[in-house]
Amino acid sequence: MDSEDQKELLGESLQGTPTVVPGQPTHTRKLYLESYGCQMNFSDSEIVASILSEAGFATTRDEDDADLILLNTCAIRENAEQRVRARLRQFKQAKGARPHLVVGVLGCMAERLKESLLEQEKLVDLVVGPDAYRDIPNLVDQVHGGQKAVNVLLSREETYAEISPVRLDANGVTAFISIMRGCDNMCSFCVVPFTRGRERSRDPESIVREAHELFDAGYREVTLLGQNVDSYKWNIDNKGVVKNESEPVVRFAELINRVAHVNPDLRVRFSTSHPKDMTDDVLEVMAKHENVCKYIHLPVQSGNSDVLKRMNRGYTREWYLERMAAIRRIMPDCATSTDIISGFCGETEDEHKDTLSLMDMMHYDMAYMFSYSERPRTLAQRKYENDVPPEVKSRRLQEIMAVQKVHAANRTKSYVGRTYRVLVEGTSKKKEDQFFGRTTYNTVVVFPKENAKPGTYVNVHVQDCTPVTLIGKMTKNEPSA
Ligand code: 5AD
Ligand code: SF4
Repeated sequence: MDSEDQKELLGESLQGTPTVVPGQPTHTRKLYLESYGCQMNFSDSEIVASILSEAGFATTRDEDDADLILLNTCAIRENAEQRVRARLRQFKQAKGARPHLVVGVLGCMAERLKESLLEQEKLVDLVVGPDAYRDIPNLVDQVHGGQKAVNVLLSREETYAEISPVRLDANGVTAFISIMRGCDNMCSFCVVPFTRGRERSRDPESIVREAHELFDAGYREVTLLGQNVDSYKWNIDNKGVVKNESEPVVRFAELINRVAHVNPDLRVRFSTSHPKDMTDDVLEVMAKHENVCKYIHLPVQSGNSDVLKRMNRGYTREWYLERMAAIRRIMPDCATSTDIISGFCGETEDEHKDTLSLMDMMHYDMAYMFSYSERPRTLAQRKYENDVPPEVKSRRLQEIMAVQKVHAANRTKSYVGRTYRVLVEGTSKKKEDQFFGRTTYNTVVVFPKENAKPGTYVNVHVQDCTPVTLIGKMTKNEPSA
């Protein structure tokens, strides 16, 4: 599946992607920035590019041309970390021939690996955690002064609210807006609460302003990003801090409402919801606004209540089924996707089968599927044995993927024969004479370009499909969705 087919949200991709922004005359130094992991990291890289642009850095796609190389890293599974280490060893070699080159690590690997990366393996000059990006220009100066530089302090307030992200590798049509940082949930498998710190929400006014600016610049879709968007809250009277429930508070449903009102032609998506916190008012506000896309990513992780308890997810299988039923009650046509982990600590064959049976009930449009990877400091690492053998984890993962492949193909097929309102994103990667765009259900549609333009809406009648892509033709007929 390529990125045209499915855009990653907070699921993982291990693609290290270099990003680029055009230089201006005042930009005398060059930054090469490579991002790994979830969409939140890619969004953070846009903040980092903005901070460094102010400090005189233009970004480059050519690592050989860079004065500063930064890797924005992911720690969610072990193989993500291994890839970053391999890449850092390549850069260390490059430094032999370019003594002034500064190499740094940002993001989720920073806190845990600062000593080993800086001192033991001496792979990097600079280590900066997710809440310390404003400090990068000073830290680079510190490195030029002959010191190693590190700032991995986590903050309870930092949201980079007023920093205008530099849109990296932008298609000019779709953009991400970070609405909160950190996570307080403590799912037992997850390292995020340790790497990204406590949950905090961003001022809704700055979020709405960013959405307006994007719309004025021609963007037509925003995705509101957070580890757990359903717990978004901002106290209007008290710079965000909510002390008790009777205060005037903007919650997630109200935030969606405000962003949806920016313009009816601005599509709104969000990720990631949490089954324990997703309330009906969020679903109702989605149903009310045509421009809020009918698509929810609701990670289940496992279909068995005992496993969910060990995962510390805060819900049971029955609760999850009820939340999915609420989605279908309030928005009968809503598309859904999920995250699933195979082989969590103590998972029996029957517990695994519960995951497969839940999938058979849900028929997700899409799923991000992983085998469990033990992460340092997490509750699971301290409390449970990582006792499902690797070959069993991987066999279970294959079974999960096989089921999902059938469901996804059936879901795609079910969209054939109708007309959809499609936001045109750009030229299809496979066919130069075709555009691709998405339906409200986040399904990719390809169609002949004719006189369409990226960043506009067209009606496309879908006549055929591959397992993940719809194939159609523009029409003057009214869309059914
Ligand atoms: N092992 C495997 N998958 C994990 N995820 C988070 N932590 C782990 C881990 N230790 C998955 C979860 C989460 C997604 C972003 O990554 O499914 O929803
Ligand atoms: Fe990790 Fe759970 Fe928070 Fe998601 S909600 S970031 S899985 S702790």
